[in-house]
Amino acid sequence: MNLAPRRFPLPEDFRRACGDARSQGTRVAFVPTMGALHEGHLALVRDARARAGFVAVSIFVNPTQFGPDEDFSRYPRDLDADVTKLSTAGADVVFCPEPQSMYAPDERTRVHVTGLDEPLCGAFRPGHFEGVATIVTKLFGLAGPCVAIFGKKDYQQLAILRRMVTDLMLPVEIVAHAIVREADGLAMSSRNAYLSATDRARALALSRGLSRAHRAFSSGEREAVVIESLVRDEVAASADRIDYVSVVDADSLASVGRISDRALVAVACHFGKTRLIDNVVLGEDPAPTPG
Ligand code: PAF
Repeated sequence: MNLAPRRFPLPEDFRRACGDARSQGTRVAFVPTMGALHEGHLALVRDARARAGFVAVSIFVNPTQFGPDEDFSRYPRDLDADVTKLSTAGADVVFCPEPQSMYAPDERTRVHVTGLDEPLCGAFRPGHFEGVATIVTKLFGLAGPCVAIFGKKDYQQLAILRRMVTDLMLPVEIVAHAIVREADGLAMSSRNAYLSATDRARALALSRGLSRAHRAFSSGEREAVVIESLVRDEVAASADRIDYVSVVDADSLASVGRISDRALVAVACHFGKTRLIDNVVLGEDPAPTPG
């Protein structure tokens, strides 16, 4: 029988629960989320469970990472349903603060990881990664020394948080978890809930495009422009608008001309009112579509 995880709305209670676990010699694993949990999140929690004796999950729709025209107010929120899912996945505690507990009215601090936040989504979502780095720093401060699991779907976020943990010497081990996809290849995302049936079908162009890139790379193609145009052609036929299709160095996120052994292919585009992202690391990840 799975016990429901304990809920902590207050930062000091969450900090204490993680500290108590550590003082009993138990390793803490932490999965930060914004809720609206799906199988992709639950895979992170199960990964956390396999790595540590105490599993903490945060659910917080972080206002500072949304732009003024983005979906902060309509972002799906259902704490009770999320907590039920977390009991079966094996979480011990859920930290679910109110915004005023995380951002005091007189707060003055932001965390900015320079450079890595400029390409890809950074060019289209000004301030987004600063909001992410700031809230994750606060969450890590509360969770304390731990292993933290993040999905590779938000690849740029992962790269930024890795850099941040190294530069700020935070006592956190970052683990990257493979993208979890639906049976037809669509990468799982809380924002998929916004898609109409037609837009969802059109959105399969993302994983199809990335699979074309994967096939071309496997057949020996190494020119980034060729790979980019294969993906762009596939996505352009279905998306309403493309923000970017880019082939970049998988560590520095800088543009590459010729791929040596490994490169990130990342895409962001719009289907109706929904912006979706997806990616594959050539030379590292399996093909994004079945078959
Ligand atoms: O990936 C997310 O869900 C969010 O960006 C995160 C890391 C929980 C910070 O709010």
